[in-house]
Amino acid sequence: MAFVERVFSGVQPTGNLHLGNYLGAIVNFVKLQETHNCLYCVVDMHALTQPVSVWGGPAELARNTREVTAAFIASGIDAKKHIVFNQSQVSGHAELAWIFNCVARVGWLNRMTQFKEKAGKDRENASVGLYDYPVLMAADILLYRATHVPVGEDQKQHLELSRDIAQKFNNDFGDSIRSHGFNEGLFFPQPEPLITGPATRVMSLRDGTKKMSKSDSSDNSRINLTDDADIIAQKIRKAKTDPEPLPSEEKGLEARPEADNLVGIFAALSGRTKSDVLVEFGGGQFSNFKNSLVELCVAKLSPIAAEMKRLVADPGYVDSILIEGANRARDIAAETMKSTKDIVGFVRKH
Ligand code: TYM
Repeated sequence: MAFVERVFSGVQPTGNLHLGNYLGAIVNFVKLQETHNCLYCVVDMHALTQPVSVWGGPAELARNTREVTAAFIASGIDAKKHIVFNQSQVSGHAELAWIFNCVARVGWLNRMTQFKEKAGKDRENASVGLYDYPVLMAADILLYRATHVPVGEDQKQHLELSRDIAQKFNNDFGDSIRSHGFNEGLFFPQPEPLITGPATRVMSLRDGTKKMSKSDSSDNSRINLTDDADIIAQKIRKAKTDPEPLPSEEKGLEARPEADNLVGIFAALSGRTKSDVLVEFGGGQFSNFKNSLVELCVAKLSPIAAEMKRLVADPGYVDSILIEGANRARDIAAETMKSTKDIVGFVRKH
């Protein structure tokens, strides 16, 4: 069965939105608006899976939810044409996650590397929500029967789990799905990850083998979307490099993680390929390249930071976007939940 193509993706409101979130995800969200109907969600329920000290408590959560929304809009997401909302305003996410909890297998979740990383050594003390995180993520996507999901590379395994959940639901309830008029026995699509561009995994500026992350204790490891021009310049100038000049060809970046990362960032920000960037800068010193990277980064990010600041100063307006988006999301979600409940055999008012 051909499903109507629809895009869904989410970003957690856990503070410190950075260049990795922007280049790995948000830039692609903006592009996909031209070809697809899109839903972009601030996943506030996912934020709760970490200890309160990580997401900062209720006031921080609300502030960060508005800030991510502002980042979406400031980056060029059109909340009139597409749907921008926060997860907790649409109860279907939690409802569908419960049903999926009963479809997903413990063995599947035990293989999730991100749980292992986030839980660290003290796994007994991790929240049940952190363990269940990818099931809620599958519910986010499939509540809208979304077919395409733009994400950074770190989400690939979670997307595979979403596909497994969709497939197992379709198998487990195949007869019921058919008897409810879905003739090919397919109710949920298998969502495809879209992991594209030269910066699907932006690395830390202090260590090219570590992912750029919101939770890194060193602020110098990342460029935040709210950093001003001076801070961006400082962080790029301090970024770790190696003593060799830049190579002239992409294969010369192998085993040079820091160089590879900075060239990838340049390529992604300028809409060019890494090879193309090396044609310009290959053979030259890092200092020249870094100066150009600072200029490019400031030119691209400063307008976004300024617009975010303006939007965050008007929380009433930001909330109105989220409320309107949630109303529209709820309409789509209601259709999926009605059919899902019928398929499962839950008695409901018709
Ligand atoms: P979050 O908030 O951790 O990350 C948001 C997006 O940014 C991408 N990303 C990166 N991309 C490249 N380089 C990096 N260093 C980097 N760091 C983060 C992430 O891959 C992600 O696309 N679990 C999701 C949130 C989510 C979701 C969903 C996504 C919840 N439900 C449903 C898609 C569909 C996450 O990692 O958020």
